[in-house]
Amino acid sequence: MSDEGLALATKAMNAAGQDDAMVADFASRYRLLEQGGSGMIPEATIAPLLEVDQLDQVQVDPEQARDALAHTVVLRLNGGLGTSMGLDRAKSLLEVRDGLSFLDITVRQVLAARKRYGVRLPLVFMDSFRTQADTAEALAKYPELAVDGLPISLLQGQVPKLRADDLTPVSWPEDPSLEWCPPGHGDVYRALYSSGLLDQLVEAGFRYLSLSNGDNLGAAPDERVAGWFASTGAPYAAELCRRTANDRKGGHLAIRKADGQLVLRDTAQTPAEEMDYFTDEHRHPFFHTNNLWVDLRALQSVLGERGGVLGLPLIRNDKTVDPSDGDSTPVVQVESAMGAAIEVFPGATAICVGRDRFLPVKTTNELLLLRSDLYELDNDYRLVAHAETPAVKLGKQYKLVGDFARLVPHPLALRQARSLAVDGEVAFGRDVQVVGDVAIEASEPTTIADGTVLEG
Ligand code: UTP
Repeated sequence: MSDEGLALATKAMNAAGQDDAMVADFASRYRLLEQGGSGMIPEATIAPLLEVDQLDQVQVDPEQARDALAHTVVLRLNGGLGTSMGLDRAKSLLEVRDGLSFLDITVRQVLAARKRYGVRLPLVFMDSFRTQADTAEALAKYPELAVDGLPISLLQGQVPKLRADDLTPVSWPEDPSLEWCPPGHGDVYRALYSSGLLDQLVEAGFRYLSLSNGDNLGAAPDERVAGWFASTGAPYAAELCRRTANDRKGGHLAIRKADGQLVLRDTAQTPAEEMDYFTDEHRHPFFHTNNLWVDLRALQSVLGERGGVLGLPLIRNDKTVDPSDGDSTPVVQVESAMGAAIEVFPGATAICVGRDRFLPVKTTNELLLLRSDLYELDNDYRLVAHAETPAVKLGKQYKLVGDFARLVPHPLALRQARSLAVDGEVAFGRDVQVVGDVAIEASEPTTIADGTVLEG
């Protein structure tokens, strides 16, 4: 039955214009899916990664740092929709603060860095078929962004969603676009290879690729990290952050005992009975930020040897064909993660960076923080924090961005807040301040008046 599934999927991908590398890459993961899903990385097969360079302690020569930035290309992942926050277009178009979206701030960070260091610093967004048109429209305001004739958008591939019962491509005549999904951000390497952009960048004299999630505004161009990466001579590096007891999610790097290779382990690759090890911040003291650095020539060589197919581990994503309808047909999305590529680079390394390089927005809790007075954008459009980050926990009434924006239309004053928990339909007025620990429970819709100071 599944041979038929792969044959049907291959046919559909060919008809949709997907290239040989995309089809081969999908097929390799389809086989893994048939064999039972994600490859597990048991604790007994790895040694924890305990020692890495620390960004605040490494010596980076300013001239070398500038030179590294002069040879750097920035690539932002922009294929996702932020469906978990109820968005149906590129998440990067969501307004973060001061009337600016993730995309606006990212573009301005790059333009500011170009000016400050006198470097070319191309910026490329990797779009999916879902985000390409909206993103191109938003980028039209920045005609100065493209440099040296290089593209500012890279289109990732698309793969069929598979019926969970028999692993054949799902059919959804109501909206055929929902029959397809992007294959995860691990597709970035193949997309660079297949599009020819990788060769183009190397020919244009670029050496280092800085990759990060589109929703992480902390990953601004940074000459010290670029300089550090150049000085290591490593083919690949991951930025890590030191874990606290609150950082229970997020993958971690580890050393594979069999050959000493660094590997990325995500939740899906951790046996359920070993999750205590995975979440133990003493045993695995760093988490993976998904800010990565790759030597373009090393990438070119490994992709060339493998015909564009890195064969990264499978991430099986179980969903329904229409994400907004939980009763629609159950499907499996066959994906891979960008950070898993560390295992194909002997000599790969890692660096521990500050929390300022990891400011993701996965939920409206984080959006509330970024919109508040805790942060300010400096002249280089970097987010600067003015106080410790309070713990924010908004109830389910705030889960979708539309509801959140209706209930919290103005930035909150959080510089003196330690925690904020809200349960119930509570609408916040203008200039509301939170002091210390505040918990609000409302059994019916409530409004907090303009200028209120919430305490206790
Ligand atoms: P996530 O899947 O963690 O981000 O991807 P998300 O957008 O918050 O996810 P959902 O939709 O709510 O579940 C991290 C980054 O990778 C990009 C996303 O745009 C995001 O910047 N991404 C993800 C791609 O570019 N392509 C993909 O196929 C998947």
